[in-house]
Amino acid sequence: MYDFKPADGADLAERYRELAAAADALTADEPDGVANMANVAALLWEFLPDLNWAGFYRVGPAKTGGAAELVLGPFVGRPACIRIPFGIGVCGAAAQSRATQLVADVHAFPGHIACDAASASELVVPVLRDGAVVAVIDLDSPRPARFTEADAAGIEALAALLADRI
Ligand code: SME
Repeated sequence: MYDFKPADGADLAERYRELAAAADALTADEPDGVANMANVAALLWEFLPDLNWAGFYRVGPAKTGGAAELVLGPFVGRPACIRIPFGIGVCGAAAQSRATQLVADVHAFPGHIACDAASASELVVPVLRDGAVVAVIDLDSPRPARFTEADAAGIEALAALLADRI
């Protein structure tokens, strides 16, 4: 049985260190990327309050053989849109720019894709392997401006840890 839980009263940086340590323990010896993403989605949900969606989109081939796009991966939350072209919405912007997207108000973000009408703010971090984006980590919250630069730094560290494990 795994019982990874955040320590009571830990500050945000400490909480992200605990999250990364739990993710490291769960993924270090497991070569199956889907299993690793599934467990990390569960950890994100366990460790971070005020989320309504936490998970992964992977870069994969388009159904029609066109340009690569984002394809829904393991997550916790409500069913979500399955395919997102690069450059579209918050996830597509992160994939295209290879840069973290910290969005305080998703309704003000051009092209935001509303998978759940309850979402108010969003953090999307690209997972880079050898400089190429292989996935994004997407967090949504029903609370406006839920995510800070400290959250972005914590999720970026997690993305770096996972780059060769998903
Ligand atoms: N809102 C995202 C789409 C993914 S869902 O939030 C799970 C976006 O605009 O990219």
